[in-house]
Amino acid sequence: MSYRAMPKVELHLHLEGGAPPAFIRGLAKEKNIDISGIFDEQGGYLYRDFEHFLQVYEAACTTLTGPEEFRRLTLAVLEESAAHGVVYSETFVSPDFCGGGDVGAWREYLAAMVEAADEAERTMGITLKGIVTCIRHMGPEQAKTAAKCAAETKGDFIVGYGMAGAEMVGRPGDFAYSFDMAREAGLRITCHAGEWGGPDMVADTIRDLAPERIGHGINAIKDLALVDQIAEQGIVLEVCPGSNVFLNAVPSWEAHPIAKLRDRGVKVTVSTDDPPFFHTTMTDEFDMLARTFGWEEEVLSELNQTALDAAFCDDKTKEAVAKRLAAG
Ligand code: HPA
Ligand code: ZN
Repeated sequence: MSYRAMPKVELHLHLEGGAPPAFIRGLAKEKNIDISGIFDEQGGYLYRDFEHFLQVYEAACTTLTGPEEFRRLTLAVLEESAAHGVVYSETFVSPDFCGGGDVGAWREYLAAMVEAADEAERTMGITLKGIVTCIRHMGPEQAKTAAKCAAETKGDFIVGYGMAGAEMVGRPGDFAYSFDMAREAGLRITCHAGEWGGPDMVADTIRDLAPERIGHGINAIKDLALVDQIAEQGIVLEVCPGSNVFLNAVPSWEAHPIAKLRDRGVKVTVSTDDPPFFHTTMTDEFDMLARTFGWEEEVLSELNQTALDAAFCDDKTKEAVAKRLAAG
């Protein structure tokens, strides 16, 4: 049994991280950019560990030189997602890769992504919303620039603000100013924490940045009082098990804490993170959850419903997506 056809909601997907390697290779060839070192012999992305992954990721991004590249990227990513039953997706986008933080340039990149999202909605039946992310290892000042871009373009497409990048750089409180700026502009908040950092990083993120959702958050499992706090506060975890296993954040699917977190009352959702980098798809995630934890359709549907409830879009969009989920 494969869950490929099941309609799905995905909340944690890095747009550039969804780029099929053949797409990036094609762009590199068009532009005469030599990034051959980031691919393996089979043409997949090649890297040693998380830190190297971030370097390879940024090297791949050098081929995305303008709005038109982001229009094509958005279409390529949504085509993959739609092929795996995703009907609603939220994607992380970074002004740092789209005009270097200049608001005028950012608007142009954004318009190109929205054009692609509109086309994909018409032709593939998938709805996309964007979450502006600052990149942690670029530091708090750059994060303010990202937050300014986010605040200036909050609207139908840009619905949230968050932080990705190297989790062990700095502390959450260093970034509070940019998160406050985004929140005051009316953006909803999520933040990567507890993928590499321990429960203290998750706790500090909750205290200093007050996110409604946390990207990963899996290391909270090492402090059950914190798990209970997350459950009580209704903070939703964007869990990416395939990513965690591939990057060795957890040793195996069997050892993944998603079931324990859910059993203890935490709202968990499932996403792919950077699917071609981690050799996963939403179908793979659902199939592996079914196989590893014996989760049947009822539990898997609950994951989608939890994700939809925690989505940052407007109510009208939620109602439309709810109908898609109900139709099965
Ligand atoms: N984790 C953190 N930062 C990232 C990732 C990720 O998986 N992908 C792109 N930036
Ligand atoms: Zn991520």
